Amino acid sequence: MTLLVTGGAGFIGSNFVHHWLSAHEEPLVNLDKLTYAGNVGNLQSLAQDKRHVFVQGDIGDTALVTQLLNQYQPRAVLHFAAESHVDRSIHGPLDFIQTNVVGTCQLLESVRAYWSALPADQQSHFRFLHVSTDEVYGSLSPDAPAFTETHPYEPNSPYAASKAASDHMVRAWHHTYGLPVLTTNCSNNYGPYHFPEKLIPLVIHHALSGKPLPVYGDGMQVRDWLFVEDHCRAIERVLQAGTPGETYNIGGWNEKPNIEVVKTLCHLLDELQPRADGQSYASQITYVKDRAGHDRRYAIDAGKIHNSLGWQPVETFETGLRKTVQWYLDHADWVSGVTSGAYRQWVDLHYGD
Ligand code: NAD
Ligand code: TYD
Repeated sequence: MTLLVTGGAGFIGSNFVHHWLSAHEEPLVNLDKLTYAGNVGNLQSLAQDKRHVFVQGDIGDTALVTQLLNQYQPRAVLHFAAESHVDRSIHGPLDFIQTNVVGTCQLLESVRAYWSALPADQQSHFRFLHVSTDEVYGSLSPDAPAFTETHPYEPNSPYAASKAASDHMVRAWHHTYGLPVLTTNCSNNYGPYHFPEKLIPLVIHHALSGKPLPVYGDGMQVRDWLFVEDHCRAIERVLQAGTPGETYNIGGWNEKPNIEVVKTLCHLLDELQPRADGQSYASQITYVKDRAGHDRRYAIDAGKIHNSLGWQPVETFETGLRKTVQWYLDHADWVSGVTSGAYRQWVDLHYGD
């Protein structure tokens, strides 16, 4: 028994790899292209672990994916690989179409060919688990109920549109070909190994570097935050007991306006690593130009996965955020490793003026 994981050197994928191998003997093959967001350093502690096979490559490389499927005979594919940053999708959408839409279709086709040739009992137990986002549902008004699995798709950013398209492809491969797929739509994650161009790790990194903490617009956009380990547990549970063809929303029941998240981070840092001048990190908060087409509010109704699979988050926002801040304080080497070169170019391009 083996799993094939795509994008397992990224933020959520690498957390999943660690989570899985800490609880299971079953090995996994980790296929990752190592874009700017992929980092083998996230997997360093597994270097001697024979249950983890890392392969650098593209999900759209049919020859490579076919070879890996035939060689390792996985019982499931867990598809994390994607271009994942909304702001980058605004600067350059085509990479998102290539990996998230075209790449996912190429992967689906490679997997379908492999799955079709399996003996009947293995075919019925096989799973293709597609990891997606709440952003496919679009933006909620302040008092609207949280997204359920039947909420209409109304993606607003190029990233969200590319993920929505990939969700539709996965659905179609189930309905047309019978591929046993599972789709999860999760809210904003945070935790260890989060690349510091997303809000929470960016604020921690900028605070400690004495830089401005950029808050878009009025800072009142709402996101529903989930500690990454809780997301990994949810994926594990959906893989184990989810019904093929179903989708599962995953969220933390933690709606927070961005400015509150930033201020909470500042207070945690004030406590755990106070500034030398005794001032609060909150004095570094700087309101900047809003993101184009910025979605105002996301909120997930995680009732289905709770009621049907018994999953619920373990961490509260307070416990998860404290763990996250402590992890970044303890891993300054990791942060300096990923914030050189290309990272600085991105910060200059995006926040430059
Ligand atoms: P990430 O950007 O940190 O990691 C993506 C990984 O995919 C990287 O390691 C990258 O090298 C790899 N990759 C990119 N293109 C590839 C390709 N063509 N072939 C092989 N590998 C490729 O992203 P993340 O935050 O870990 O997100 C993982 C998945 O979870 C994505 O599908 C994302 O849409 C989804 N998701 C993320 C969040 C979140 O808050 N981060 C929330 C819900 C869903
Ligand atoms: P982000 O972490 O990029 O996730 P997403 O866009 O997928 O929700 O952003 C989270 C929220 O924080 C989003 O509303 C945009 C906002 N934000 C800022 O205010 N400043 C920043 O510098 C960044 C990166 C994000």
